[in-house]
Amino acid sequence: METDRLSPARPAARVRVFADARALVRGAAAEVLRRGRRALRERGAFDLALAGGSTPQALYQTLGRSRSARAALWRQAHLFWGDERVVPPEDPASNFGAAWAVGLERLAVPPSHVHRIAGESADPRRAAVLYESLLRARFAGATWPRFDLVILGVGEDGHTASLFPDSAALAERERWTAVAEGGAPPVPRVTLTLPVLNNAACALFLVTGAAKAAVLERLVSPLGERPLPAQRVRPARGDLLVFADRAAAGAEGPVG
Ligand code: 6PG
Repeated sequence: METDRLSPARPAARVRVFADARALVRGAAAEVLRRGRRALRERGAFDLALAGGSTPQALYQTLGRSRSARAALWRQAHLFWGDERVVPPEDPASNFGAAWAVGLERLAVPPSHVHRIAGESADPRRAAVLYESLLRARFAGATWPRFDLVILGVGEDGHTASLFPDSAALAERERWTAVAEGGAPPVPRVTLTLPVLNNAACALFLVTGAAKAAVLERLVSPLGERPLPAQRVRPARGDLLVFADRAAAGAEGPVG
């Protein structure tokens, strides 16, 4: 089995189980702020990659409504997206559009620090190339961009970002971005590639609901013969956190 830019000995995920989705969102917001403050202390910047899908919407709403929304932290933060559907920002399927409207627009992030994927592009490949140029401008000279925090969801099929099982995007090992097909809605997507996710200082999965119980079990288990895409996110020089609610983790989980 191929190992991805990782030491197989990397420790498994640190899992925190929360009583419910609301508690998980509070915990995730605290983790985002903690990681952001640490990044500012250590390197004077905070580069954050955001997840799409429905799970993190409540987190974005909470961050936008919190007292810290106007804090200095956000004025020095740069927002990126882990993936995007190739649709205009005003389309209900837009990861950027949904996150922005639900709360991120309230953060004191300078407009020039918001690096969305150009979903309005008629050509997904061009959108991917444009996004990679944004990343290369921000992480100039880097072999791989290193996000202080990458927030991720996971699909029931084990995809994360828009890295779907057995896909070319999942297999990409050179580029920082890729065009992807799959998932719902059935539109082309642009995604960060696995080496980028695995170069992060911290990858944080948010997993809620009973429908995610099976995939959560796989996510926190040893890789096995055919690892799910989400299982392959194991930052070589970073932390891997999995925040789950009891509905996904089962009642026996210790509450985080
Ligand atoms: C997307 C997301 C995707 C999402 C999972 C989980 O663009 O759809 O990036 O990876 O995180 O599909 O989605 P839910 O949070 O809606 O279950």
